[in-house]
Amino acid sequence: MISKRILWVAGFAAMFAGITAAQAGNPAAGKEKSKSCAACHGADGNSTVPDFPRLAGQHYDYLVKALSDYKSGERKNAIMAPLAASLSKRDIEDLAAFYSRQQGLTVKY
Ligand code: HEC
Repeated sequence: MISKRILWVAGFAAMFAGITAAQAGNPAAGKEKSKSCAACHGADGNSTVPDFPRLAGQHYDYLVKALSDYKSGERKNAIMAPLAASLSKRDIEDLAAFYSRQQGLTVKY
């Protein structure tokens, strides 16, 4: 019954990976909160305007850091600073959870 044991181990490993990949933040709540961001970054984070960075598929940690840095003033940008200032830690985590789960466009060069 070795194969069954391997399946168990693989199952637990997959569960554990799922838990660690889940991160903090609620993607459904993030989707709601992202409505005010959509005008610039696109509904699912796939901005079509070069001035506005694509957020879809970006790493969760990167998004949390970028937004936290705008909020703290560590990263300076006249557009994003006031927007991030009004976000709570929870908002930032929810938004990051949402955008990191969106499919980024494949750009062909
Ligand atoms: C008025 C347009 C506008 C709106 C609305 C807007 N952004 Fe931005 N966002 C920008 C611009 C411009 C930048 C690039 C700033 C820079 O160079 O640092 C940016 C950058 C970012 C970045 C960093 C991306 C990177 O690749 O480093 C994140 C994350 C982000 N925005 C999230 C959001 C979220 C979340 C919201 C909604 C709460 C939002 N933005 C609303 C214009 C906007």
